[in-house]
Amino acid sequence: MCGIVGYIGSRNAYPILIQGLHRLEYRGYDSAGVALINQSGDLNVYKSKGKVAALEHYAEEKDTTGTIGIAHTRWATHGEPSDINAHPHYSQSDNIAIVHNGTIENYAVIKQALIGHGYTFRSDTDTEVIVQLIEYIIAQNACSLYEAVLQATKEIVGAYAIAVIAKDNPDQIIAARRSSPLVIGIGNDFYCLASDATPIVEYTKKVVYLEDGEIAIINRNEPLKIMTEQNVESKINICKLRMSISELEKGGYPHFMLKEIFEQPKTLLDCLSGRVSIDGKNISISGIIDNKDKFLRAERVIIVACGTSWHAGLIGKHLIEDFCRIPVTVEYASEFRYSNPVITDRDILIAISQSGETADTLAALELAKSRGAFVFGICNVIGSSIPRATDSGCYIHVGPEIGVASTKAFTGQVTVLAMVALTVGQLRETVSNQTFEQVATDLRRIPSLIEEVLKLNDRIHDLSKIFTYAHNFLYLGRGYNYPAAMEGALKLKEISYIHAEGYPAAEMKHGPIALIDNEMPTVVIATADSIYDKTVSNIQQIKARGGRVIAIVTAGDQVASSIADYAIEIPEISECLSPLLTSVPLQLLAYYIAVNKGRDVDQPRNLAKSVTVE
Ligand code: AGP
Ligand code: GLU
Repeated sequence: MCGIVGYIGSRNAYPILIQGLHRLEYRGYDSAGVALINQSGDLNVYKSKGKVAALEHYAEEKDTTGTIGIAHTRWATHGEPSDINAHPHYSQSDNIAIVHNGTIENYAVIKQALIGHGYTFRSDTDTEVIVQLIEYIIAQNACSLYEAVLQATKEIVGAYAIAVIAKDNPDQIIAARRSSPLVIGIGNDFYCLASDATPIVEYTKKVVYLEDGEIAIINRNEPLKIMTEQNVESKINICKLRMSISELEKGGYPHFMLKEIFEQPKTLLDCLSGRVSIDGKNISISGIIDNKDKFLRAERVIIVACGTSWHAGLIGKHLIEDFCRIPVTVEYASEFRYSNPVITDRDILIAISQSGETADTLAALELAKSRGAFVFGICNVIGSSIPRATDSGCYIHVGPEIGVASTKAFTGQVTVLAMVALTVGQLRETVSNQTFEQVATDLRRIPSLIEEVLKLNDRIHDLSKIFTYAHNFLYLGRGYNYPAAMEGALKLKEISYIHAEGYPAAEMKHGPIALIDNEMPTVVIATADSIYDKTVSNIQQIKARGGRVIAIVTAGDQVASSIADYAIEIPEISECLSPLLTSVPLQLLAYYIAVNKGRDVDQPRNLAKSVTVE
């Protein structure tokens, strides 16, 4: 997510910082800013909503001198994208400036305490709380900036990479990290730092990767010092960068899509973090709790979405009906917006959209709202049009998705839908404590289980070579995994341009079975669920007609894997969460087939990342 750049040395920092921000643009962001200390000791902060170019334009006539500075591209999590919420943030006295990537879970409590001590806040961000806390600690203890940052990191809970500079020390940058990355570049007469090595590689190849819990003391013309959270000096481990700039932009992956597939353990951890309690007994989704009455008296849920988000919605239907016992319909937003739906004020409409900008979904939700429905959004891009138009909602927090083919957003959407269904089910007392805890606990296992599934990468790569030249594919699944089959088919067609269809497995015999022959592979999701035996019969029907089958099965499977031509094993998990695991090998299969065919994986022909037209 988003990015940090910093520089301290003999050159003017501003052009280096701006160039660094441009290099980090690929990560996606909504605003940008810089903080510089000039020769006279002024700490100047310039920031603006929008692109780095807008920041450059804004700073054109300003004093951008100074050989020390920090800079940031923000991907809003707390507070809408705006000039004020953009980073860097000043402390109360304007003496300290901070940039931060990540989220602080306990910011509200700290903010209240600081307000009690007379601090006022200019932005809605969680970040401003950190810099105010640092200033407060210095004022209370008359300590150094480093000591204050060390103390502050003990008090904040969450994910962060931060860089801090102070007016009264123009020769020092303090940087710290937990969960969000930070790299320090070491030059002959300078240091630079950044969220990844992309902004650094053109200045130096010598870098140090900060570890979780470490704090770097970067002093001008002095050796770099890295401290642990126990205030013990760490050994400095200098690495040599070998990658090209273009590789680095994708974090070493050849395509954004592959990077995003591999990011899923981390993105789902972010999505779940601060929401599902460690003991699995509670889930906190404030957009639901704050509108409890609406969910208690709801008589129906209507889900509207397009494409991949619509597939997530189909899984959401099963989850909500299972746990909340409310009837759910799932509509294509483009159809719904031109229909004449019967809607009452006891309907809840859930609009699902990664980009938050899909025109059809926006129009569908406006229609439902105008007819009295309560509208709840599930989106990724903070402050985009759909979350602004909804009554309430829940972000999926999976970071910018750059590849046009949606991957990590899909698993984020399903994860949020599972949390929504459990929360509402608990409110309505339609889910037993035992089921709630079982599924919530399994949700917490998902990131590490996806880590396991990703180990199948090489095997799926090999498998992809066998099927690259197929002209048609069939994807079959049942129950929770029928939408996962459709999503697998959509991924393949989007990026490889191979025709693929997703079907409910048992429906095959009513038509598509006519297509089966040795030329057309069928991918069957046959995990150990309540209808496993039925799915096995469907595989037998394909084999009896000479079809070739790739089966996605549960670890230890004997039957389906012995009938299928190829079996891919995924770990065991609650049936309702299984699409989170089954969809990952299908993403990889589509990816490798597309790569084998030499397709433009990240920007497939004719497709756009956000479809803001009808
Ligand atoms: C996903 O791979 C597609 N590119 C597409 O189907 C997408 O899911 C659809 O356009 C909806 O987008 P949204 O989630 O941003 O609303
Ligand atoms: N949580 C911070 C904010 O919303 C930082 C977001 C980021 O990582 O850019 O401002």
